[in-house]
Amino acid sequence: MSEAPSTPAAADAAGAVPRVLSGIQPTADSFHLGNYLGALRQWVSMQDTHDAYYCVVDLHAITIEHDPATLRRRTKVAVAQLLAMGLDPDRATVFVQSQVPEHAELAWVLSCLTGFGEAGRMTQFKDKSSKQGTGGTTVGLFTYPILQAADILLYSPEPGEGEGRALRVPVGEDQRQHLELTRTLAQRFNHRFGETFVLPEAHIPPGAAKITDLQEPDAKMSKSASSPQGIIDVLEEPGPMRKKIMRAVTDTGSEVVYDEEKKAGVTNLLRIYSALEGTSVADLERRYEGAGYGQFKKDLAQLVLDTFTPIRERTLKLLDDEARLDRVLAHGAGRASEVAARTMDVVRDRVGFVGRGS
Ligand code: AMP
Ligand code: TRP
Repeated sequence: MSEAPSTPAAADAAGAVPRVLSGIQPTADSFHLGNYLGALRQWVSMQDTHDAYYCVVDLHAITIEHDPATLRRRTKVAVAQLLAMGLDPDRATVFVQSQVPEHAELAWVLSCLTGFGEAGRMTQFKDKSSKQGTGGTTVGLFTYPILQAADILLYSPEPGEGEGRALRVPVGEDQRQHLELTRTLAQRFNHRFGETFVLPEAHIPPGAAKITDLQEPDAKMSKSASSPQGIIDVLEEPGPMRKKIMRAVTDTGSEVVYDEEKKAGVTNLLRIYSALEGTSVADLERRYEGAGYGQFKKDLAQLVLDTFTPIRERTLKLLDDEARLDRVLAHGAGRASEVAARTMDVVRDRVGFVGRGS
């Protein structure tokens, strides 16, 4: 049995603590505002109410060309940021995907249940492969969503662990299709080999599921596509951070009002403000009635700074103590492995692999 989290998590109606699993790639020197509002903030709050598993997905990060030393550094920076945002290694299992080899093993089994055409329909694959060109597009990029399905289903609560126990996956809107594929593969496995996996539920925050680029408010804020001026990094220095918000594209007129069609820039800033402060968009519109964009942006810049400065400072401190980070990861890998190994034992047996005996 895996250890129960040391802080009591809220049980559901059936008396079982729901489980949460999510992952993020270590493919940048810092997470960005979209990652924070779309996913990571939920990771932190859900550790209090769920049996939580969060992984830094370095196997996914090598689906595009990478430099080994950079990957190693970014993996540590990613873990440090997660802890700095408030993940508590005693309450949540924080680990690095490659340290739990069952992820790759289950991905193989699931890939043998996935249609070639089905994988080819994934829109993220189509976007990414069109950027890489045929020469740069690897088979790993193609099977990326299947590895993601394995990440999730490995942590499927066992039937004996509580009937109807949920498996929730906090992610941004762009991951919806991958979650659908994961459910399809879970159902297919269950149908062919017997009830094994719980169907995971995407947990997508209503207001902040798609934060857009500050310079191109119709495009997603993205580490690969946004220009440096369009993206706010969590670890950004205060000066540039403030400037980027002050220079964010706003629209003609001067009214701070929500209008996705005509005022995509202001609408994005309102969403960010609302999510960070926990104030409704309607209340913000009233607060800034007649005030103009300047004051609105200045206040928003302050709010972003107040949120990210302590996270930046804590991250830098954590990076100074690599031995501590390594200890956290070893502890996390140990806890994740217990669950992953149990799931894989069941999977191997159901699929018909001969056990090694004892
Ligand atoms: P990625 O940066 O693509 O590895 O994404 C990590 C997590 O952040 C995923 O759950 C994404 O859905 C989420 N995410 C990425 N970009 C955004 C965005 N612009 N707005 C909201 N969520 C995002
Ligand atoms: N594909 C996800 C992204 O780009 C990252 C990811 C990998 C993930 N494995 C996961 C997210 C498992 C949730 C659950 O953001």
